[in-house]
Amino acid sequence: MTVADSTNPTPTRLALRADLLDFVAEPEWGAVESPALRWRPDHWLLLEGGRIVGAQPASLPAPEGYQTEDHRGRLILPGFIDTHVHSPQLDVIGSYGSELLDWLNTYTFPAEMRYADDEVAEQGAQRFLDALLARGTTSAVVFPTVHRISADRLFAAARQRGMRLIAGKVLMDRHAPEALCDDVAGAERDCLDLIERWHGLDRLAYAVTVRFAPTSSEAQLAMAGALCRADPTLYMQTHVAENRDEVRWVQQLFPQARSYLDVYERAGLLHGRSVLAHGIWLDGDDRALLRERGAQISHSPSSNLFLGSGLFDWPAARQAGAAVSLSSDVGGGTDLCLLASLREAYKVQALAGQRLTAWSALHAATAGAAAALGLGHEIGSLEAGATADLCIWDWSTEPLAAHRLGLARSLHEKMFAWMTLADRSHLVQSRVAGVTRYRRPGSTAH
Ligand code: GUN
Ligand code: ZN
Repeated sequence: MTVADSTNPTPTRLALRADLLDFVAEPEWGAVESPALRWRPDHWLLLEGGRIVGAQPASLPAPEGYQTEDHRGRLILPGFIDTHVHSPQLDVIGSYGSELLDWLNTYTFPAEMRYADDEVAEQGAQRFLDALLARGTTSAVVFPTVHRISADRLFAAARQRGMRLIAGKVLMDRHAPEALCDDVAGAERDCLDLIERWHGLDRLAYAVTVRFAPTSSEAQLAMAGALCRADPTLYMQTHVAENRDEVRWVQQLFPQARSYLDVYERAGLLHGRSVLAHGIWLDGDDRALLRERGAQISHSPSSNLFLGSGLFDWPAARQAGAAVSLSSDVGGGTDLCLLASLREAYKVQALAGQRLTAWSALHAATAGAAAALGLGHEIGSLEAGATADLCIWDWSTEPLAAHRLGLARSLHEKMFAWMTLADRSHLVQSRVAGVTRYRRPGSTAH
């Protein structure tokens, strides 16, 4: 099931029974026991009018006036927030054998051309958002394509589903096929139109979306920076320092810039609402600049491994005080379910001799991302007052995994094993503002 069930409307007051896990602060790096974690086993989570209003132990009866749904023995997490993903790239996920620049030219650009068509854009947006919801992601920061219609259709589809979504028409006016290039004046008009239509409407926000430095002229970067300056409530999203050939190309194209990141700094694109994907090949000055501007790195481990881009230095970003969130980066990434990104992030750190705890990983995919986006009051937690964007997960779906989890000696061991073994088949329900937007076929409450 992918849309709200009209035969079974959401009750105004609803109590969900399950194990509740969320975060009240950022967990310390490497700490398997953390006061930042809020673990409330077998509780009622209380929802009213699409918001979370509280929680209480399930040993007490659910409060008067609440309808109940009993998911005891299951886990409720805040809905995942994917801070970097490309909606049209479901069409090229799992493409064989190339690094970033070749992958863009061979697979991605040809696929994105189809999104000039209204019907392709419309169906693509619906398919993409339903796929996110069926994998535990309730909010995302999304690249559609250069075509205005692709952004229009994505926003409209997110609005239908009540989702908190950040997106914008992709800006690219050079170094790409003609059919994917805009021009500065036309792109500015499209952005202004889209901002007027969608920015701040319900739970939607606009992101000035520079594909990456090589596909925008200096004039286009300046226009994008001017849009950000004119309205500080806008987000900005782009890619930075992902691949070594890409970094060399940017050096050639922008010889006056100190670094790849400095190209964006010079254009006025770095601020507290900037989301920069990858950031593998940054130096210390870059990281200090990210912190100064309040910009975040969206770490995409699945993509970084699949495209052979490199190993992101998460501890260095952290030590510099730069915010880090997590993302699937489909179609460079190979799984839209953020659980896959959590375990790939662990492996990337393991290759660098580091350990990523389940707490740091889960925090980055929920409350950490929300805080970095300035949305900590609304998404990423099960705190009273937050919007009820949440997912109900099975701890296990088959006896071997249940056996393994049963042997865990601590909560961290159990959570880490779950994060490593679970996938989208474990998802029972996704709720957006309290409304069920995905229900696993055949699943029932107790
Ligand atoms: N850099 C510029 N465009 C893209 C894209 O679509 N995916 C990834 N991973 N990197 C990019
Ligand atoms: Zn990307």
